[in-house]
Amino acid sequence: MIVIDESGRMQRMAEQWRIKNETIGFVPTMGYLHEGHLELMRQGKKDCRHLVVSIFVNPKQFGEGEDFGTYPRDFDRDSRLVEEVGAEVVFYPTISQLYPPDFQTYVEVTEVTKGLCGASRPVFFRGVATVVTKLFNLVKPHFAYFGEKDYQQLITIKRMVADLDMDLEVIGCPTVREKDGLAMSSRNVYLSVEGRKAALCLYRALCSVQKAAAGGETDAEKLINAAREIINKEPPARIDYIKLCHPSTLKELDHLEQEGRLIMAVWVENTRLIDNGRILLGDR
Ligand code: PAF
Repeated sequence: MIVIDESGRMQRMAEQWRIKNETIGFVPTMGYLHEGHLELMRQGKKDCRHLVVSIFVNPKQFGEGEDFGTYPRDFDRDSRLVEEVGAEVVFYPTISQLYPPDFQTYVEVTEVTKGLCGASRPVFFRGVATVVTKLFNLVKPHFAYFGEKDYQQLITIKRMVADLDMDLEVIGCPTVREKDGLAMSSRNVYLSVEGRKAALCLYRALCSVQKAAAGGETDAEKLINAAREIINKEPPARIDYIKLCHPSTLKELDHLEQEGRLIMAVWVENTRLIDNGRILLGDR
């Protein structure tokens, strides 16, 4: 495995692979890897001749007062894990490689980014769409892998790739959970022992909504209230939002027809956690 920290070198290597018609799989990350990232890499490794993993904590997707400075970083551990999965390249650019001082171009996906996390984190999706576009231009993947855990991000990237005619396929992979149901996230390390226990309310809330819908409940407000009730019982948890949305447009639903996506963000202590899941209507 090689570590490339220079954009031009990454692009030249990818170009050589493309010329030979060899497939390139790509997993973009901000590092501090967990099993969720490793699953994306394993999928990429299975599907493609070459696998590239990027590690870059992207300053453009953090708002003022967010955790850019303290975001967990451990490059040595990350590169060991990437090597164990069998990726060929870790792309590890510096901030000035991707954003030289005269940088001034951004990519904006306007509709699917409006609500949900876009409402609470106004610069987030512009930063994600911009860096992912740059990474796609450098790594030139045929397939790029993103977790469903960041569901709005996945939909945003899919929209961007379709709208801008990018020559690759975006593959969404299921959320990887701890044994007790907590969705894996690099930010889980911020939680205290007590916070970690309280954080399970997100998964419990999701399961209770899935169960109510399977039992025939169609009213979005009732479904969302079932989730709220569970989360509000945990004192360290504070709801940012809980919404029932259309799975591809992310428009809010007021009733469930067949399938919806429950999407939520909840503060636990000082950490904002997100989770989501497919909600299917069953017969009463
Ligand atoms: O999901 C992430 O880790 C980041 O948002 C991404 C896609 C690597 C862009 O910085």
